[in-house]
Amino acid sequence: LAAAGSAVGLGNIWRFPYLAAKQGGGIFLLIYILLVVTFGYTIMVSEIALGRKTGQSPIGAYQSLAKRYSFIGWIAVFVAFIILSYYGVIGGWVIKYFYEFVAGHSLALTDSGFFAAFTGETWQPLLWFFLFMLMTYLVVVNGVEKGIEKVSKVLMPVLVVLSVAIAAYSAFLPGALEGIKYLFIPNFSQFTPMTLLAALGQMFYSMSLAMGIMITYGSYLQKSNDLSKCVKRIEFFDAGISILAAMMIIPAIFSFSAGDSAALSANLNQGPSLMFVTLPKVFGSMPFGGVVGAAFFLLVFFAALTSSISLMECVVSTLCDKWKLRRGPASAIVAGGAFLLGIPSSLGNGVWSSFTIFGKDFLSFFDFITNAVLMPVGALLTCLFIGYVVGVKTVSDEVKISSPFKREAMYNVMIKYIAPICIVAILVTSVLEAFGILTF
Ligand code: PHE
Repeated sequence: LAAAGSAVGLGNIWRFPYLAAKQGGGIFLLIYILLVVTFGYTIMVSEIALGRKTGQSPIGAYQSLAKRYSFIGWIAVFVAFIILSYYGVIGGWVIKYFYEFVAGHSLALTDSGFFAAFTGETWQPLLWFFLFMLMTYLVVVNGVEKGIEKVSKVLMPVLVVLSVAIAAYSAFLPGALEGIKYLFIPNFSQFTPMTLLAALGQMFYSMSLAMGIMITYGSYLQKSNDLSKCVKRIEFFDAGISILAAMMIIPAIFSFSAGDSAALSANLNQGPSLMFVTLPKVFGSMPFGGVVGAAFFLLVFFAALTSSISLMECVVSTLCDKWKLRRGPASAIVAGGAFLLGIPSSLGNGVWSSFTIFGKDFLSFFDFITNAVLMPVGALLTCLFIGYVVGVKTVSDEVKISSPFKREAMYNVMIKYIAPICIVAILVTSVLEAFGILTF
């Protein structure tokens, strides 16, 4: 459950729908699911098994198996820190939207220009970002995970129920059927290497992989727990919430664009702002939409908080272990550092929007560099480490302690050959794309 709490977050509700909308709908979904049950499964089993076997946090785990390879753990911690910085910016937007719904301003939110006007401001988004980071910090420093865990055990099921209801509502909006078709029927002509790359990055991100987080959670798992089953459950839950989120948003886009194909394509391609622009319109069109909107953004806030806690915890626990810092100062350093690093991501929508790196604003750049470059590198090193340094048996023996390992044959081939080759191919493509040598 804790691992699912880390996995389910903005990645599912904010990131997945806009990628699916942009990358061709059904074809993206198909590739995503295939990746989750093959790659995602392999890497998650590996991380959890390494954690349970060594009983240590990421760097310690790599160190105890083969000392020279602890740098893989450091890459993971570095990635977690970068993600934390811009995750908080979006978390801040979520709090702002919650606040606006509670204040009864739901009508103002339905205006398409609201989001851009708000995120383009200088101080307000920074303030909400600061608030989100502060809350994450307070939870991490007080170690009140127990309380948070209790809260999220109640709130997560509520999120599922509310999402099902909103998705069902969206499906019955006039013209929404086209959107459902777009999301579920793959159109193979829409496939580009970018679809694959986006799906891969999303998979790592959404499942909290290649960041050592699952190693940490694995170290808390008991030997009697069925490891393979745990992974399947996390996958199911995580992918389920993503698909529900896409079902809330994508059919609504088709409905609101009502036959205007230029508007439709602009809406499908709008990227990170999609959830914030489309959902308030859905709420605006339903009875008691203000209440539903407030409830929804509150639940998204909790989902985001459990994820950002796991990101901060990953960095803090490493600093405590390795630099012998106490929890208090370590948390303050990490939270403060992530806030400073996040400032460009926040300002990149406004005063700093003219600064771009590889044609991307700061937030998109940090998102790209972590999901499309560093996480695949981390995953590649993990595969090579298991396949060729410690040996696949280390993982399969660990899995078999508690249960049969049904996908073992697939696992072995994946980790030694298929995953490394595919990751390298995808990485090369993504770097060429970033430098403008390839365009899709
Ligand atoms: N998986 C989380 C989400 O979907 C984000 C996250 C990534 C959390 C990596 C922890 C580690 O929002």
